[in-house]
Amino acid sequence: MKNPFDLLEQNSLAFKLTPISYREIFHLVEVPCDIYGNVDGLFKVVIHKRGEVHAAIIKDLISRKIKNIFVLEENRNLLREVQQEHLRSVTRSLSIGDTSEKAKQMANALTLNMGYLYEDPTNDAILSLQVQSAKNFSLFLYNKPQLHEPLYKEFIKQGHHYVLSQPFISTLFFIGVLKQSRLYAEKDIELFFLTSYLKDIGMSAIPVEKFNEEELDEGSKKLLASHPQLSLNILKGRAPLPPNYMKIIENHHIFSTLTNEKTLHDKEDEMIYGFETIMMAVMDTVAAMITPRPFRKPHTLFNALDVVRVLIAEQYPQEFKLIVHYFRNFFKEQ
Ligand SMILES: [Fe+2]
Repeated sequence: MKNPFDLLEQNSLAFKLTPISYREIFHLVEVPCDIYGNVDGLFKVVIHKRGEVHAAIIKDLISRKIKNIFVLEENRNLLREVQQEHLRSVTRSLSIGDTSEKAKQMANALTLNMGYLYEDPTNDAILSLQVQSAKNFSLFLYNKPQLHEPLYKEFIKQGHHYVLSQPFISTLFFIGVLKQSRLYAEKDIELFFLTSYLKDIGMSAIPVEKFNEEELDEGSKKLLASHPQLSLNILKGRAPLPPNYMKIIENHHIFSTLTNEKTLHDKEDEMIYGFETIMMAVMDTVAAMITPRPFRKPHTLFNALDVVRVLIAEQYPQEFKLIVHYFRNFFKEQ
């Protein structure tokens, strides 16, 4: 780059651009603002405002090894609004058309909005959209257990960051096992779904990129260890969850392998946890173990269930049987 003006422009762009994910433009008919890429070390517009997003365009960008794309910081909201409108429209038409396709679209749109919520957890409009959409999705999924396994497979393929995909996967397993237990009425399901889906929102205190590192720094580790409490602080008075559901969020790491500070055995003399807390915590553990992380491969289901056996089989034998039965059914074709 010889021209000093180009150099100035590039420097100024480096300050004004903010990274976005390809997933944020995949399904758009047209982009609401210029999309930039890093082309041979220079920031250039790779899709112009109102440009169509063909699969061929994305393929071309990826084949040119343009891994990271950006928008101007001032346009970040435009993209967010388009995606949120998409989430509203999928929510409204959830039961119309191909239900498995709708479920996939919904899981992706919710996960994108989860990302926006993690970027801005005190934003009431984003939280309320997430709550409303998740509520609508909860009964849809609860009543269609046959969709769960294919949806799980499709969702994994989308490659969302694990911090954002983990809440959905653990919640899918959670409502699946509640369905199988036949202990609950439909009216309970919305609240359980929301409780499980929002339980990790306190993790938004740590920037998502930090979770790619195997070893978090001490400050982040402390924040991570306190994320159930941070989730409560974020949700208090803002999410429609009664106190006993908030209590489940507070206790959802009774088997935490994240902090090693608490185990079930440290606490077993003090209290007996309710069925829902046990199930939510176990489903979270299994979901985390059987999915990959940037720093490790996924564990097998067999390994995950063995961990669950050690954690709960003695104290909660019926629950353990139910969990094993649930996962055997879920993955029966593998
Ligand atoms: Fe958690």
